[in-house]
Amino acid sequence: MKLKNMILGAALAMSLTATAQDNVITVNTAKPGAPVQPTMYGIFFEDINFAADGGLYGELVKNRSFEFTPDHLLGWQAFGKVEILDDGPFDKNPHYARLRTMGHGDWWTGLVNEGFFGIGVERDKEYRFSVYARVPDGGTQMLRVQLIEPYTQEEHQEFTQADIKVTSRDWQKYTVVLKSRKTAPKAQLRLFLCNENGRSGSGVMDVEHVSLFPVDTWKGHENGMRRDLAQALADMKPGVFRFPGGCIVEGVTLENRYQWKNSVGPVENRPQNKNRWESTFTYRYYPDYFQSYGLGFYEFFLLSEEIGSEPLPVLNVGMACQYQNWNNESAHAPATEEGLKEYIDDCLDLIEFANGSTDTKWGKLRADMGHPEPFNMKLLGIGNEQWDEFYFKRVRIVADAVRKAHPEIKIIGTSGPDSEGHNFEIGWEAMKRQKADLVDEHFYRPISWFKNEWQRYDRYDRTGPKVFAGEYACHDRGKKWNHAGASIYEAAFITGIERNADVVHMATYAPLFSHVDGWQWRPDMIWYDNLRVAKSASYWVQALFAQNKGTNVLPITNSNFPRKGEDGVLASAVWDGETGEYIVKVANTFGEAKTVSIVLQGLKQAAEAKAITLDLSNYDGENTVDNPHLIEPRESAVQVSGNTISTTVPAKTFVVYKVKK
Ligand code: AHR
Repeated sequence: MKLKNMILGAALAMSLTATAQDNVITVNTAKPGAPVQPTMYGIFFEDINFAADGGLYGELVKNRSFEFTPDHLLGWQAFGKVEILDDGPFDKNPHYARLRTMGHGDWWTGLVNEGFFGIGVERDKEYRFSVYARVPDGGTQMLRVQLIEPYTQEEHQEFTQADIKVTSRDWQKYTVVLKSRKTAPKAQLRLFLCNENGRSGSGVMDVEHVSLFPVDTWKGHENGMRRDLAQALADMKPGVFRFPGGCIVEGVTLENRYQWKNSVGPVENRPQNKNRWESTFTYRYYPDYFQSYGLGFYEFFLLSEEIGSEPLPVLNVGMACQYQNWNNESAHAPATEEGLKEYIDDCLDLIEFANGSTDTKWGKLRADMGHPEPFNMKLLGIGNEQWDEFYFKRVRIVADAVRKAHPEIKIIGTSGPDSEGHNFEIGWEAMKRQKADLVDEHFYRPISWFKNEWQRYDRYDRTGPKVFAGEYACHDRGKKWNHAGASIYEAAFITGIERNADVVHMATYAPLFSHVDGWQWRPDMIWYDNLRVAKSASYWVQALFAQNKGTNVLPITNSNFPRKGEDGVLASAVWDGETGEYIVKVANTFGEAKTVSIVLQGLKQAAEAKAITLDLSNYDGENTVDNPHLIEPRESAVQVSGNTISTTVPAKTFVVYKVKK
């Protein structure tokens, strides 16, 4: 009797404590729900904001193949006698530079490359310089290779130098490793034509595909990626890796679209393409923004594998960009099987490239590039951000052809650029009719939108295609740049994605990368200059979800779920079958602290618990390359009393609670 009373008393006390809290989050641990898809919380790579050349791609030389148009010397400063010729050794990149001596010992011929907003090098680090060269008139000529700081008060502009002797009349590749004697974020590369004694003599040399890479790239690949940027991706533990865009898939015109076949094979012969973002915004205008395709589909598949993500290529559906450019029939390929043949072939050949055996044409190319094993591609996006009948009729033809040949591939369609309204709705209807496996929806929206959408995915049809929240980011009205004040709403919104794990199978924030000197679009997830990196507050939100995604969603009740348009304490919970943890995520979007009880119903006593806290209360705060650690998660122990955590979640703060069973 006494014992019974004690238990009743304890239960009463507990429920009193619980109801006194602003929010009681009750997690039903006995009923693990839908599996959290392994593809959850991924990344979306697009070459916008100098994300590829000048960003993730390790190449430090701009316009290395002299193919930028209309000025083939864009990015180069030529001095002396320099000519551009077009019968070079690489048929798809035929231009090269001919250097001819000036005929006087004190007059020099050569080239200076400015890099991407300069060339970033670090003291004592090694850089691999390579060039294709020949001496067409015979004899011996020397190429003096220098890292320089042109604007310096020091005696010498050059701080590192090496000489390459060229004796062959035929094109040959020459390589030299330079050890930088200085750290310089905005160095340049200078090439002098000289005779064997290092003087300006007489003679001619042709140079092509002039390249400079850090030796220390991600995983040491020679055609590699910037280690710090690739590491930032790997650290997130992203479930899916979507590439190569974005509007870049579509192009300003169809000729300008991303053509994956141009991005594979030897790098020297991957034809250049004008980046579609070079002229999109005249207030951020970059006439020197091209795609070398050095970071191409092979590299994307390899990176996906190396960071443990599911690869998700997106291909063009025979349509130029509707959103940013013209939207009429004449901008697109004819909507017939014949008119779309090239696009259908691109899909089928890509599947062969990724998965085909090494005795197929494209499978063999993959093997020749160094990966005989298949990449095991399972997902294919057809069209980016397209809408209306223009799209519906084309995607049907392309998707049917893919399905017929490869029923094992999941097809991702799109609901266009709108997150609601007529075009969005007819887009979803069409995708349902066409039985797309997933629908890619995009929402770059203000805080007010996010506050209206707390229950967005609770309402979704459970029988139709699954959701891919393929591009999204939050900003405040009129404030389109990174600030923690917006990131807290991303965290709160994503709890709704997580609670609906049965319907939302993938989600990727966008855009991913941005060079501080060369951006076109904000906010972005990771910022960098030539040597430094800053992971934004939004990066940490994404990382915390991805690193703690668990294996099954757990049903929760929230005693004080916010109304549409209001701030709130939003939560989601998962069970992680691999680590034996209950993981509860709580985001407080209020401007003041809130008391919260997390009751793990069905659990008697937790073994231990910790909290990972991301303080986003500094509204204007953000990590920058000068101050990269302002906003970062920090870990602390948490008291669990029986099955309950009674805590206070500070204003504008996101917390991940991890409780060991
Ligand atoms: O992420 C920037 C752009 O936003 C993407 O290229 C496009 O899909 C969307 O309009």
